[in-house]
Amino acid sequence: MSRANGVSRWLAMAALVPALAACGPGDSAGGAEAGNAAPGAAAVAPSDPGNGTTQRAGAAEPVYGFGTPATASQIAAWDIDIGPDGAGLPPGQGTVAEGLEVWERHRCVLCHGPTGREGPNDLLTGRIPGDEFPFANDRSLRSTVGNYWPYATTLFDYTRRAMPFDLPGTMTDEEVYAVVGAMLYFNDLLPADAVVDSAVVVDTRMPARDRFVPDNRTGGPTIR
Ligand code: HEC
Repeated sequence: MSRANGVSRWLAMAALVPALAACGPGDSAGGAEAGNAAPGAAAVAPSDPGNGTTQRAGAAEPVYGFGTPATASQIAAWDIDIGPDGAGLPPGQGTVAEGLEVWERHRCVLCHGPTGREGPNDLLTGRIPGDEFPFANDRSLRSTVGNYWPYATTLFDYTRRAMPFDLPGTMTDEEVYAVVGAMLYFNDLLPADAVVDSAVVVDTRMPARDRFVPDNRTGGPTIR
């Protein structure tokens, strides 16, 4: 009985060898040296020099023995940045009314409150009288979408890529248009019956639009 256990333990350890060998080309080379036909080694080309790289004929750079080239659709799935001018905004539209439903359905309400003012997480709603911008003088002020964000296009980009905080990437583009509409509505920047599409996102003039300047400093004591 104890002998049987010993054998089965040895077999279990032997089974680990191909599993480890499959983890990386370096390990699979080791498996080959031991005369062990590890399953992972089958993927390594016969010309493999054994150091984890394969030199393909005519290739300037060594080719590593793992991974696959990203496909056009994989790159497209990551290539979602939107310029301030709206470049990159997807097709689609949503209404403010739908956005208020998205606000509940995607749980924005739990973290930002019923109208984006109540928290517990970041404050999203609130304008300063006259759309003043006293942030440089009063560090205690809380920034919001309505008093600080210069572009609604950035609001679309950020919301689509980062929210809901615990489940980003789970909204359709239509839902993002709608919920961006809801946030603009909360900030009195769109009416309750607005339909939001790329043109509206580009054309909505944010109160803080002209409060930022390009940082074109090239030196001096203020540059750290
Ligand atoms: C689980 C909690 C949670 C949920 C759900 C959530 N958020 Fe957030 N949200 C956060 C946190 C935390 C931050 C701050 C993130 C940071 O600073 O990196 C934030 C930041 C934001 C900001 C940027 C605020 C600013 O001025 O910097 C926006 C806009 C926003 N959320 C919109 C939404 C929308 C729209 C939804 C629903 C689709 C949503 N959030 C759902 C927690 C949440």
